[in-house]
Amino acid sequence: MTEARKLYIKTYGCQMNVYDSERMAEALGPAGYTVTDRPESADLILLNTCHIREKAAEKVYSELGRLKPLKAANPELKIGVAGCVAQAEGEEILARAPLVDLVLGPQTYHRLPAMEAAVRAGARPVDTDFPQEDKFEHLPKAPRTRRAPTAFLTVQEGCDKFCAFCVVPYTRGAEVSRPAGRLLAEARDLVARGVREITLLGQNVNAYHGDGPDGVWSLARLIRELARIDGLERIRYTTSHPNDMSDDLIAAHGQEPKLMPYLHLPVQSGSDRVLKAMNRKHKAAAYLGLIERLRAARPDLLLSGDFIVGFPGETEADFEDTLALVRAVGYGQAYSFCYSPRPGTPAAERAGVDPEVARERLHRLQALLTEQQRAAQAAMVGREVAVLFEKPGRLAGQMVGKSEHLHAVHVTDPTLAIGQIARVEITESAPNSLAGRVVA
Ligand code: SAH
Ligand code: SF4
Ligand code: F3S
Repeated sequence: MTEARKLYIKTYGCQMNVYDSERMAEALGPAGYTVTDRPESADLILLNTCHIREKAAEKVYSELGRLKPLKAANPELKIGVAGCVAQAEGEEILARAPLVDLVLGPQTYHRLPAMEAAVRAGARPVDTDFPQEDKFEHLPKAPRTRRAPTAFLTVQEGCDKFCAFCVVPYTRGAEVSRPAGRLLAEARDLVARGVREITLLGQNVNAYHGDGPDGVWSLARLIRELARIDGLERIRYTTSHPNDMSDDLIAAHGQEPKLMPYLHLPVQSGSDRVLKAMNRKHKAAAYLGLIERLRAARPDLLLSGDFIVGFPGETEADFEDTLALVRAVGYGQAYSFCYSPRPGTPAAERAGVDPEVARERLHRLQALLTEQQRAAQAAMVGREVAVLFEKPGRLAGQMVGKSEHLHAVHVTDPTLAIGQIARVEITESAPNSLAGRVVA
């Protein structure tokens, strides 16, 4: 009998880290671990870290500082650092934080059970390899830790694009696609467990080119095959690169009803000069052309994006080009950030924009994006939409779900169940969500 132990995982960063945290929890199941949401009752605490923007490493060290009293109260408590900061910092973490017992990068979490055993035997292992073997093939067939009607499924990992600002190619490694047959099997298993919506994940998900039974499958082919699974109602994918938006994927948006009308397609900047300096390898006009073709295929497509302001060399005129692009597209929702130099990336060597100027530009961009989000949400009021309910809301009898356009929708109706898809008439738009009532 393995000893019963508690695992607490704190997850930072992107959706892939959320997926990875679940896989780590599953990997540790056979070693007797079950997940707890109370760090003070844990035998093992894992921080699954993100390195994408400023002071990420510093945040991890201060979080580790906050864990000190727990370790003092329970000398048996073990602490591990996983994810992208672990990959970037490696051994350095053990040197700077004596309370850390293990460090593992995103590609080695199938080795976590062996590392945990080594820790119990007194070692302080560090594993930031990019191993030959596929970690997914080496994970135990453990019961899933999450019971929800929506799930993530990593189909592609890593990136070969090397945008000048970005750490992902270094922390996640080269672009790898998982075999299509495995993904179909994993998706069927999720659906058998009650999942109705799957979001396909990848740092460059639309570059997916996995081995299929009859040759290499594109993301569009994978989506079409997944759509044949009975009981799977909704398919999404994120994050995409404009240069990998193929004709068949654009067509799928018009042809495949299970593919949801929402697309996160980051452009980063509207200035060709800045895009070139970022090594994005696409121009603003090409991006706008892409949006036009996507909307021709699926007129109600809701667009989301990412923007970086204050990239080294960005002038006021460059920034105005970004605002112009945003106006031309009309986003339903978007993320925007001040540029943050990441050690080891090409742009980190360049002279930056004055931080005050960058902050002021970010405010202007965010004001415009917020206005567009409000307008997109207001346009839903009075409309009838399909909502997949995911969890209870804060009020009695209230449930929260997502519309096809990924709007959070609150409905107060005691007859609703988690996992149900209901027709809802939208009656109200709040800053980050909608509210409505079930249509009989
Ligand atoms: N693979 C995705 C993005 C992954 S990172 C893509 O190619 O679009 C998520 C977002 O973080 C990026 O789109 C970018 O807007 C932002 N980001 C990445 N590195 C950054 C940096 N050094 N400073 C500020 N924002 C950054
Ligand atoms: Fe980073 Fe995305 Fe560029 Fe890859 S394509 S380097 S993940 S921003
Ligand atoms: Fe962060 Fe790594 Fe994801 S740096 S955004 S956790 S790929």
